[in-house]
Amino acid sequence: MANFLQGKHIVLGVTGGIAAYKAAVLTRLLVKAGAEVQPVMTAAAKEFITPLTLSTLSGKPVISEFFTRNTGEWHSHVDLGLWADAMVVAPATACTIGKMAGGVADNMLVTTYLSAKAPVFVCPAMDLDMMAHPSTVANLRRLESYGNIIIDAAEGELASHLTGKGRMAEPEDIVKTLERYFRNAQCPSPLSGRKVMITAGPTREKIDPVRYISNYSTGKMGYALADELAARGADVIVVSGPVSVKPTQPGVKVVGVESALEMAEKSRELFPQCDVAVMCAAVADYRPAAPSATKIKREGNEPPQLQLVENPDIARSLGEMKQDDQLLVGFALETDHENENARKKMQRKKLDMVVLNSLRDAGAGFGTDTNKVTILTRKDNVSHEFPLKSKAEVAGDIADLIELLYCNE
Ligand code: PMT
Repeated sequence: MANFLQGKHIVLGVTGGIAAYKAAVLTRLLVKAGAEVQPVMTAAAKEFITPLTLSTLSGKPVISEFFTRNTGEWHSHVDLGLWADAMVVAPATACTIGKMAGGVADNMLVTTYLSAKAPVFVCPAMDLDMMAHPSTVANLRRLESYGNIIIDAAEGELASHLTGKGRMAEPEDIVKTLERYFRNAQCPSPLSGRKVMITAGPTREKIDPVRYISNYSTGKMGYALADELAARGADVIVVSGPVSVKPTQPGVKVVGVESALEMAEKSRELFPQCDVAVMCAAVADYRPAAPSATKIKREGNEPPQLQLVENPDIARSLGEMKQDDQLLVGFALETDHENENARKKMQRKKLDMVVLNSLRDAGAGFGTDTNKVTILTRKDNVSHEFPLKSKAEVAGDIADLIELLYCNE
């Protein structure tokens, strides 16, 4: 695979937060990927990590003042801004985010930011209350409106020992985002700017106010696809059953639903505006015919009889609505006669492509971070078999084939 970071000039802005220690790993990874890294530190950042660490890892003297005091050498923020192919601010404290949003150019980092012509990636890191404060939220929105790319903070344990949103994105994920950015810039995907809908997760079918019928889907596969397609520039909306996973790519929209009926209604409403739809949700095929309005009590000797009725087949109804310029991709979760069943589903639901996963394969299907898929296409009747991979990598394989089909439509 091409290395899209090779030779790229990255200005790494480091500000004063505990996550500054991660800037060392980030520098190391970027240099390893072939990038030239110029660290720019605020005065506060130097309280958390020494300039010596970053200059050693980057092979460049750290810049932090407008000039070197003993020699009087001037550091041109304009030249630095023009040199950069990208600027990454990691970690970005609430203070620096505020200064960037307001144009408060009182240090080398913010002046470089204001002079930068290249894309700017901002990786917030702070305590959960600061992160949630309307001022921080508004400043981040403002940076987004300037075209900056926010690599969102994650949830987890924070330096304060509180748990919540505010952990800086992991250096590996920041590098991946940069790689994707440069890949898209150099070889734009045919899906760039296209509208993609993905159904993900399970559905819940109410028995009474406290019980439901559902399945083991966690949404991991569907959300990995959403992230992958968004990273290729698609405008992605996920129609999602109840899950705890979240998209990691900026810009992915999520519409939450609970039951198959709700998922069907939302999917049918959105599909006509979409170029591609991927049906990854594990939709309950049946629902209780008459859910009880009150909790069913343990009364009498006989257990209650649950009468079920059929749910709509969402993929099939979209297959009926599908126009020639739309692409419909389905999944098939099988336990036996895998290829035969998947092929039948592809025909019956008028899918252009079906992603088969079998519960007979260890590490495939529900809940795992991995999957093993075979992808069947209708037009050319081809079957592509893949080994066990992470769901993120499987999403990449599916996206590659969607791109191919989309180009050949
Ligand atoms: O969410 P994870 O834990 O990561 O697990 C991923 C997964 C196993 C859920 C995923 O990889 C997967 O296989 N999704 C489809 C599950 C499924 O319901 O398969 P199926 O063979 O029953 O359905 C075939 C196709 O019709 C699927 O595209 C399904 O979304 C769709 N369908 C099914 C029933 C229904 N009423 N409406 C539908 O749209």
